[in-house]
Amino acid sequence: MNVADSELISGLLSNNGYEKTKNIFQADIIFVNTCAIREHAEDKVHSRLGLYNKIKEKKPDTIIGVLGCMAQNLKDDILESKPFVDIVLGPDSYRNLLNMINSRDKEKSQLMDTKLSKYEVYENIFPRRNNGVNAWISIMRGCDKFCTFCVVPYTRGRERSRSIESIVNEAKQAVIDGFSEITLLGQNVNSYNHAKGGFEKLLDSVAKVNGVKRIRYTSPHPQDMSQKVLDIMSKHENICNYIHLPLQAGNNNVLKRMNRTYTKEDFIDLVDKIRKSLPKVGISTDIIVGFPGETEIEFQETLDVMKKVKFDSAYTFKYSSRPGTKAAEFDDHLEESEKQDRLEKVIDLQRKHTLFQNKKYIENIEMVLVEKESKKSIKHWAGRTDSNKWVIFDKSNTNIGDIVPVTISSVRGITLQGEIVNIREMEAA
Ligand code: 5AD
Ligand code: SF4
Repeated sequence: MNVADSELISGLLSNNGYEKTKNIFQADIIFVNTCAIREHAEDKVHSRLGLYNKIKEKKPDTIIGVLGCMAQNLKDDILESKPFVDIVLGPDSYRNLLNMINSRDKEKSQLMDTKLSKYEVYENIFPRRNNGVNAWISIMRGCDKFCTFCVVPYTRGRERSRSIESIVNEAKQAVIDGFSEITLLGQNVNSYNHAKGGFEKLLDSVAKVNGVKRIRYTSPHPQDMSQKVLDIMSKHENICNYIHLPLQAGNNNVLKRMNRTYTKEDFIDLVDKIRKSLPKVGISTDIIVGFPGETEIEFQETLDVMKKVKFDSAYTFKYSSRPGTKAAEFDDHLEESEKQDRLEKVIDLQRKHTLFQNKKYIENIEMVLVEKESKKSIKHWAGRTDSNKWVIFDKSNTNIGDIVPVTISSVRGITLQGEIVNIREMEAA
């Protein structure tokens, strides 16, 4: 979400004569785009602002802005104790950015706009994308699910979807600009709903755009994962065989207190349905440990669900209390050491499952999209299978953006190792 918002802001600025600089000490304007989802993300912003303050002491004309989800929370703090911050803009107010820069030059007072909108989807603003093979396309903003641990409905406001037409136009432009992969992005992508159709219609329309080699999307909510979406995924070759499906917790009581609207049985059934519709699908998840009141027995059920599903990978988090959310008001928060202990257990188990799933790939031929040079050596590429596994392989005359057949030879940690298949040999076989 954050990368997409930064690219949007970058688009706004570069269309109006501003240029990016690699050297922060030379910048006339410094913006920090913030995320409030976990405490850790907030801490990082505070330390960054300390650095920007020092830069401004040396170069007092530098304009400093705080943008995005934390703007709302930080507003009072900035007014009271961060006079060096000139501009504070919430995630629905980026259109005001240029006006604010201009009036800031005249006024020299702190300028703020953190109003949330029911309608803003930045329909006609094209982002300026970072280099790479993947283009993020934001399809909706906000969230109405109100999971009790989550700050997003408060910082990003109500759910609203962009039109299919403008998303398809952006996808066409991404192809023209040379991107091989498109990732459709939203807090809750599968509750996408616009006048001309829901998420399955959108997926179908984007998949039909000429030249789109791969389509991914993130993140869906288990509650809205319909058979229609699975059917569209299996119909189109270019929609990746991969779903990120956040579990959060494996105990029904905890899920209820989280307001996740499904039970562990629903979740397991859904995974079965997905695997029936999309054989060889990659499934990843998000897991939170140490939600307020989570007992040891309840926590064990998260491990049980993991053992049943055997996710390909998982993003794991210790519960972090977010001011303003319902769960922050619960009075049975767990000790940090308990959360840490549970996190380590989840990470350990997931490591085993990732290895188990990855080993199934050995000797398979996988189509891999070449994405970047491997950290391992300049002779190797790193790319992903359509099920979202990283593969490291010898470059042998291929280029970034190509999709190449690779025989998987071994597994190391979370990555696969392989060799490019000689196409002539493949055809002869
Ligand atoms: N504490 C810990 N993890 C959280 N997430 C969201 N809010 C919190 C929180 N308060 C995690 C969820 C979500 C992912 C994007 O971040 O797992 O799916
Ligand atoms: Fe947050 Fe839940 Fe919405 Fe995801 S679905 S953004 S976790 S409120």
